[in-house]
Amino acid sequence: MATKKAASEPKKSAQQGELQTPKGMRDITGAEFYRLQGFFEKAQEVAVYYGFDPIKMPHLEDTRVFEKGLGTGTDALDKEMYSLKTKGGDHLALRPEGTAPVMRAYLENGMRNMPQPVSLYYSGSFFRHDKPQRGRYREFHQFGLEVIGTEKSIADALIIQTFVKILEEAGCPSVVVDINSIGDKDSRSSYIKALTVYYRKHINQLPVIDRERLKTNPLRILDSKEAKTIEINEEAPDSISFLTPSAKKHFKEVLEYLDEAGIIYRINKNLVRGLDYYSHTVFEIIEVSDNPETNGLALGGGGRYDGLAKMLGSKKDIPAVGAALGADRIIEAPWCKDLSPRIMEAPKFYLIQLGFEAKIKTLAILEILRKAKCPVYQSLSKDKLGSQLAAAEKMNVPYVIIFGQREAMDKTVIIRNMQDRSQDSVKIVDLLTYIKKLK
Ligand code: HAM
Repeated sequence: MATKKAASEPKKSAQQGELQTPKGMRDITGAEFYRLQGFFEKAQEVAVYYGFDPIKMPHLEDTRVFEKGLGTGTDALDKEMYSLKTKGGDHLALRPEGTAPVMRAYLENGMRNMPQPVSLYYSGSFFRHDKPQRGRYREFHQFGLEVIGTEKSIADALIIQTFVKILEEAGCPSVVVDINSIGDKDSRSSYIKALTVYYRKHINQLPVIDRERLKTNPLRILDSKEAKTIEINEEAPDSISFLTPSAKKHFKEVLEYLDEAGIIYRINKNLVRGLDYYSHTVFEIIEVSDNPETNGLALGGGGRYDGLAKMLGSKKDIPAVGAALGADRIIEAPWCKDLSPRIMEAPKFYLIQLGFEAKIKTLAILEILRKAKCPVYQSLSKDKLGSQLAAAEKMNVPYVIIFGQREAMDKTVIIRNMQDRSQDSVKIVDLLTYIKKLK
């Protein structure tokens, strides 16, 4: 396994004067790359079984996709969005999340004319200019699911179940789903009014940052990290008391589905997920483990967003629900399995070439190996047998293919078993069959 390091750790080998990745961003290589790729492939496989289709959106979007979708008063928009003006004068933003872009794509590509609901999955990089710390990067990776075009509570439960199963497949020992409902538009606005009245009563004790939030987005005060606010929040009104009868019915049904599926949840009255687009069910999938560093970490989160389509310009409301898993937190967790990507098999062969005669035919041999679906290590820059053998030992490969001047003339290669040091001379025309037998 690759070492699992946090974003804030200093780079070990960058030397003075050398350029580095931007703060909170990193190169992903070797075992960590394969773990990320393997996780995405496993998540995709589970999602396909649950009926989801793929979508890939651009990394840059018209800034308004997020301004209209996420709403002001949210950190994701006000503080964390990377935005730029192009030479042509367009205002674009590096996507901080995937839900608003997926809804934009649904509307733009006429998906409302397809059989409903449309169920989509996506994966890739997202960008938030947040303070980097363990499990929090400025460029991070998500696997997301969105079901657009149904108000049915089973869709909320399906999203949660799919993610719980993906986490199980990734090796996560245990999760709990923190869940709440902020209801429909009517429930939400009477709740916000009640919250505002409550916080006004405590305005003198509220820290400055939360007094600001009271003006812009009172819901955000509920997940404040300020000690004084946490205390005040204990007595704050809860959103469930403000649900309209139909919103209450929807929430009750979601919980029934979860009970039936044996998914462990707890109702968290302070969970509101401050983005403007949320309505009804909101949830977070929380790691439960003995590891004090990762216990309680949100591995994913999401909810219903029935109002988002209209916020992005649709004439009609389009009910939808979705969530996203944070892939970086998952692949860094000690429990995360090495889910080898389908394309990758660790090379079992090291190809050694000696002399110009051999080197000139080396590319043809690499192609024979590729056709046999046989990845290889090689060192095109090294010429000496000793240094190439030493490199092969380091890579821990079971076989070495030696291709020297004599072999090039005889149209053969030598295959050396690195464990017992036995060797075979194999005709190049027979190489494919020989290798298939070894595999
Ligand atoms: P979110 O809760 O902002 O939701 O992000 C989902 C997950 O992404 C988090 O639970 C966390 O694991 C991971 N994550 C978020 N920010 C970072 C970061 N800076 N570094 C590393 N991991 C991070 C959304 O993004 C919504 N779009 C989810 C959704 C889909 N709602 C409806 N549909």
